[in-house]
Amino acid sequence: MKEIKLIGPFKQVLPMTGVPLKGALYDEQLLIINDAGIVINDTKIEAIGTFKDLVNQYKNAEIYELKGNHVCLPGFVDAHTHICFAGSRANEYAMRNAGKSYLEIAEVGGGIWDTVTQTRNTSKEDLARGTAKRANRHLKTGVTTIEVKSGYGLSVEEELKMLYAIKEAGNQTPVDLIPTCLAAHMLPRDYNGNAEAYLAEMSASLFPRLIEGKLTNRIDAFIEQSTFTPEQIKPYFKKANELGFDITVHADQFSTGGSETAVDFDAISADHLEASTAKEIKLLANSNVIAIALPGASLGLGCAYTPARNLLDAGASLAIASDHNPGSAPMGDLLTQAAILGAFEKLTNAEVLAGITFRAAAALKLKDRGVLKTGHLADFSLFHTDNYQEILYNQGNLKPCMVWKNGILAYNKHKA
Ligand code: NIG
Ligand code: FE
Repeated sequence: MKEIKLIGPFKQVLPMTGVPLKGALYDEQLLIINDAGIVINDTKIEAIGTFKDLVNQYKNAEIYELKGNHVCLPGFVDAHTHICFAGSRANEYAMRNAGKSYLEIAEVGGGIWDTVTQTRNTSKEDLARGTAKRANRHLKTGVTTIEVKSGYGLSVEEELKMLYAIKEAGNQTPVDLIPTCLAAHMLPRDYNGNAEAYLAEMSASLFPRLIEGKLTNRIDAFIEQSTFTPEQIKPYFKKANELGFDITVHADQFSTGGSETAVDFDAISADHLEASTAKEIKLLANSNVIAIALPGASLGLGCAYTPARNLLDAGASLAIASDHNPGSAPMGDLLTQAAILGAFEKLTNAEVLAGITFRAAAALKLKDRGVLKTGHLADFSLFHTDNYQEILYNQGNLKPCMVWKNGILAYNKHKA
């Protein structure tokens, strides 16, 4: 028989159930279970309720008794990262803060291309190790699922190397890694041809290899005047759609066009959106595309935040992700960034927490996590406080003291 565990008592559990996928939220919509317990059966949640009731109901459970006050939230889902990379771009960050822009640095061969060069010179094994190390760092901040993009390989073999590294990293961390192919991150500087030819070659040669190797079912593209235009990306996404891939887009970061393409292709998410105007906000709100704000990129580049308030008020679904990467978003702390976005964009606790739990899970089409309920994965974090509002109030400085992943205590601050 599988082992049954009962954890508690928690001062508060916020299961994040019964909250809509789209639109603005009020904190009164959050269900709070006081003096609660969680019963785990193997990797999944068996029951949630009052600790006392559960103690009576599950007499044979092994009790994991908590001392002091704890608030429990679902494990966070970071739905957009680039944590598979080699090297550092600290020098570029210093250059940006001394006045050079991200696009100016890219034009002279820095930026993404710098990381491509360093990633190509690194073995699959080393990339896997680096990725797992970063994932384990995210775990300590309550993140139990991380989407990880390729996009620093930019040739068939180098993109495959990255995706195999991400797969291997998944065996070196308790965190679930969800891979995405971002071969359309930029036109490689060493590619002897035009954008159309590069994208045609990638879709013809790389897409079948992704299916064959079961490497990913997600295709992303960076749509931007300086990278790939909507017209260039359309045949690429059409091919991806035909082969059954899900689509996600780096959209409206500096110029618009990406979110419109995302809506046209019924993408799962449109991410960035710092440059979105009323037109794009309306388009997204009237679609099933989930908007993903990336405050880490706004902080890393020192530029505007995604218009999260306006997106929510228009009726869009909003997830929040870290975009952790060596260039535009080097911090990689989802909770801190989500709290900061909340302060600047005037988001409720409910909106911020939804953005890093079930709305983020929906942005990855994951139906077994993001809320705490029977049958879902036992992925949750414990914060040492008696009031959930303290978590965002501390703006990321109140870190979890324990993180449970798939029913296992994967991080315990007291034992770290
Ligand atoms: O999401 N915008 C494009 N791609 C990444 C940045 C990657 C990099 O700078 O290395 C982003 O911000
Ligand atoms: Fe990104």
